[in-house]
Amino acid sequence: MYIGLKHLHSFLPYLLLTVLLFTFLRSVIAYRGKHPHTEGHRKNGLIVLILAHLQLLIGCVLYFVSPMSRSGLNDFGLAMKDSSLRLYTLEHPLMMILAITLITMAYSKSKKDLSDQLKHKVKSVYFGIALLLILSRIPWSAWL
Ligand code: HEM
Ligand code: HEM
Repeated sequence: MYIGLKHLHSFLPYLLLTVLLFTFLRSVIAYRGKHPHTEGHRKNGLIVLILAHLQLLIGCVLYFVSPMSRSGLNDFGLAMKDSSLRLYTLEHPLMMILAITLITMAYSKSKKDLSDQLKHKVKSVYFGIALLLILSRIPWSAWL
């Protein structure tokens, strides 16, 4: 199960990061051009949300089966002194959950009764920060 989950958790970010970057740029262009917030914009946000939630679910299971996070959890104090163990046990999960929370809030707000301009603005800011958080805490040396 571990290998399967690890492959899935390793492959999904290619899709998630591509769609997130595209949706972020689309929101910025729509905000600056004062475009209406269409059903297409909402669905675009929904695809980001679904990919992010799927990655969250897989990540949460992986956290308890991966040798990286398990050895970190075995001795949390020691793990905090090792940059690689600290990344897998604390920094990566925490930052990713924060990023997914921002993605969820942005999508949620785009369904509310707000002006089209505000929806594009919220999506530009939240998706932009989420993208930075994800990029900052991906274990690059193990990925790609
Ligand atoms: C750890 C697991 C998960 C948590 C904690 C979680 C949490 C949430 C929350 C809080 C919302 C509400 C967002 C709102 O205000 O509209 C939501 C919506 C949603 N989630 Fe998840 N989710 C998880 C897993 C998944 C998975 C695995 C999928 C599908 C692959 C998924 C698909 C969706 C969809 C489609 C919506 C919103 C649809 C809509 O309102 O139009 N989620 N989730
Ligand atoms: C946007 C969300 C996320 C992204 C883009 C992401 C991305 C990644 C990537 C690229 C890797 C490296 C995979 C490899 O070695 O090929 C990884 C590993 C890992 N992630 Fe995530 N992740 C996310 C969320 C989470 C969450 C929420 C958790 C836990 C709660 C988590 C736990 C882990 C663990 C434990 C590993 C190490 C797996 C291993 O090599 O044994 N991830 N993640």
